[in-house]
Amino acid sequence: MVTKKSYNVQNWQGGYESLREEYDYWIDDIEGEIPPELNGTLFKNGPGLLDINGHKIYHPFDGDGMISRITFTNGRAHFRNRFVRTQGYIEEQKAGKILYRGVFGTQKPGGWLANAFDFKFKNIANTNVIYWGGKLLALWEGAEPHKLDPYTLETLGKEYFDGILSEGEAFAAHPRFDPNCEQDNGAPCLVNFSIKPGLSTTITIFELDTTGKIVRKQAYSVPGFAFIHDFVITPNYCILFQNPVSFNPIPFALGMRGAGESIKFQPNQTTKVIVIDRKSLNSRKGENNKRIKILETNSGFVFHHTNAFEQDSEIVIDSICYETLPEVEPESDFRETNFDALKPGQLWRFHLNLEDNRVKRELIESRCCEFPCVHPLKVGRNYRYLYMGAADAATGNAPLQAFEKVDLETGEKQIWSAAPHGFASEPNFVPRSHDGDEDDGWVLGLVYDSTHQRSDVVILDAKDLDKQPVARLHLKHHIPYGLHGNFVNKVFINS
Ligand code: CO
Repeated sequence: MVTKKSYNVQNWQGGYESLREEYDYWIDDIEGEIPPELNGTLFKNGPGLLDINGHKIYHPFDGDGMISRITFTNGRAHFRNRFVRTQGYIEEQKAGKILYRGVFGTQKPGGWLANAFDFKFKNIANTNVIYWGGKLLALWEGAEPHKLDPYTLETLGKEYFDGILSEGEAFAAHPRFDPNCEQDNGAPCLVNFSIKPGLSTTITIFELDTTGKIVRKQAYSVPGFAFIHDFVITPNYCILFQNPVSFNPIPFALGMRGAGESIKFQPNQTTKVIVIDRKSLNSRKGENNKRIKILETNSGFVFHHTNAFEQDSEIVIDSICYETLPEVEPESDFRETNFDALKPGQLWRFHLNLEDNRVKRELIESRCCEFPCVHPLKVGRNYRYLYMGAADAATGNAPLQAFEKVDLETGEKQIWSAAPHGFASEPNFVPRSHDGDEDDGWVLGLVYDSTHQRSDVVILDAKDLDKQPVARLHLKHHIPYGLHGNFVNKVFINS
């Protein structure tokens, strides 16, 4: 059976044009009404440049980080975007050409394996943006964060957390915000990790208190090479999936391939599920590995997890899994992606039994999906609702064009689609109040509108996600497909 596609590739490609300009304006082209009680700021990060002065980059993950900020205040909304002034961005803009070898590209020649493991790359600050301890930080998993002014988005320099992080030390782009940390007497805390891959891999866990100080930091060693982009937390554990991949350093060392191209998915190997006891963060050197457990399962490849929680003697984890890792072919252009040839991301639930070390799993959503999020107070806790980007069609692999809500209790699913001309990205859930229902709030999403070569900020009612948006804010320009961001309950505006 031949079904009509919900998209065409030329339309999708338009969302990978660079955005060179930096804007600063009140949004006045609005359909519907911005809820007056929606106050705060949505920060998003992603590759703003997909070329350097016309020289195309090989992979969007290598694109320079650009922050987009949408501030909601008393029924109005303001937009501002600004590139992170990383050293690489400044140098390349001045030179008008590509000077750095990207992790997923092939530019800089030579290089030695050790450099790869030290991530001596251009720190492109393009993966996530968080506001924590009074600091706005642009994150990239290979190196230290860049600190920005939340009012002007000006780049203030690199962040080392009072010297606890050393120069060039990695700090992942996927921190988790524990709403209620036992070790901090119930105050919220930020938990993050970093990876130093090699023949064995060092995983470092960081915990930051509400003032932005690193209060706990501990390194753990696990066997084998690891490529880990995201993790999950519960009140007692950090859980990381060590994907079944191998790293072939030879072509990389010879400068023939980027590091990202040298990672090979090993479909016949199991995924290692690394469970770290958060209490062991305080233990002395030498005894910390006693508090780490490694279980095995089949998960395919995982970039993103949704959430995790403890239930009796189990840890439950919801993750987006790919049957195979889409390999980055040398010299290939990501703009020519053949979606039909790739496997979709699908939502699975894993049950880790900590008594017999067995893992069970079940498929929750087979529709192609990515970029999940949950209510901020449900992080690490038993929860009912999740939101994510999804394909328009129920089967097959396709670009994200919709937002989907899943009720994990009843199995009910709601979908709002921007197909055929619109393309979706990561949604963010914003609760209406602190004590409302778990789905009482809004889902905010950026939708690329290929007909008008612009992006919309879409506000959906999370209780009725499949209804028409509460409001659709038309920007004056497009925003290239982004990665991650966060909503902050604080109004940041500079005009
Ligand atoms: Co990510």
